[in-house]
Amino acid sequence: MAQKASNTATGTPGDFPPFNQRHLLSIADLQQHEIIDLLDRAERMVPVSRQERKIHATLTGKTQINLFFEPSTRTQGSFEIAGKRLGALVMNMSVKSSSVSKGETLVDTATTLNAMRPDVIVVRHAAAGAVELLSQKVGCAVINAGDGAHEHPTQALLDALTIRRNKGRISGLTVAICGDIGNSRVVRSNLLLLGALNVRTRVIAPRNLLPAGIEHLATEVFTDMREGLKDVDVVMMLRLQHERANGRMIPSVREYYHFYGLDAEKLAFARPNAIVMHPGPMNRGVEIDPAIADGNRSVITEQVEMGVAVRMAVLDALLPAGDKA
Ligand code: NCD
Repeated sequence: MAQKASNTATGTPGDFPPFNQRHLLSIADLQQHEIIDLLDRAERMVPVSRQERKIHATLTGKTQINLFFEPSTRTQGSFEIAGKRLGALVMNMSVKSSSVSKGETLVDTATTLNAMRPDVIVVRHAAAGAVELLSQKVGCAVINAGDGAHEHPTQALLDALTIRRNKGRISGLTVAICGDIGNSRVVRSNLLLLGALNVRTRVIAPRNLLPAGIEHLATEVFTDMREGLKDVDVVMMLRLQHERANGRMIPSVREYYHFYGLDAEKLAFARPNAIVMHPGPMNRGVEIDPAIADGNRSVITEQVEMGVAVRMAVLDALLPAGDKA
């Protein structure tokens, strides 16, 4: 007699229909039901990481390559742990961007890695669109772990999972994203995902950190923190991404913190039960008061935990069931 999937290691715990995407390149490629499906799958993965033997071996015999052209702590680490908890063989490649033309380097690397017959490649690259280009050159699933200021889909999924677990729902909430909006792939993916789930989104930043056309992605745009935070359910803070700003940023960190740093006084404008999020890495005292980052409204470490669950769910969803060991 066939066992239910929840009792075996043949798929995400629980019964889910096949996930009909080959790659995860951007949130823009996903429909609302696919986003919810990934969140539901991730929810089922959370207990796997909380049990004593953290293994749900659906990817035994599969090979996962993590190809990171940019430094990363939590994203690369959680993709590695996610793959290993699913039983995959995981290989980490950290590649420093060379001065060779990016396209050439990338295509050469893709061809080389493809010859090793991986089942999935997780890619982070400084250039927007680089991950999609790589996906066209290899014969396996590709996951975007962040491409330039374009997208970071698994970050938006883990943020949504964290919001859903804390608020019991996502639709109908008001979420404010504050800080370096212009240089952030996290913002783009989050605005696309939250928009698809009928969330009211607000971006808050000094005018020079707001990209042209942002009003088409966010419901509302603010340059004043107190106005923007009024009655929000979720406050998501962002780091100033100096590496993408070519030195043009803000006149002074002290001034930035004064106007845009999240402290108790500004947070008081949000709803009393509003949660505080940050994708990391955090610059304490620049965009956030350490007391808020470590305070009881902060769900920042929960975001990291949900990152593992979401990455397990995405890996499991992309590698077709019939093809599993
Ligand atoms: C973000 C990233 O790399 O895009 N971090 C992350 O993935 N946790 C945000 C950042 O670098 O500031």
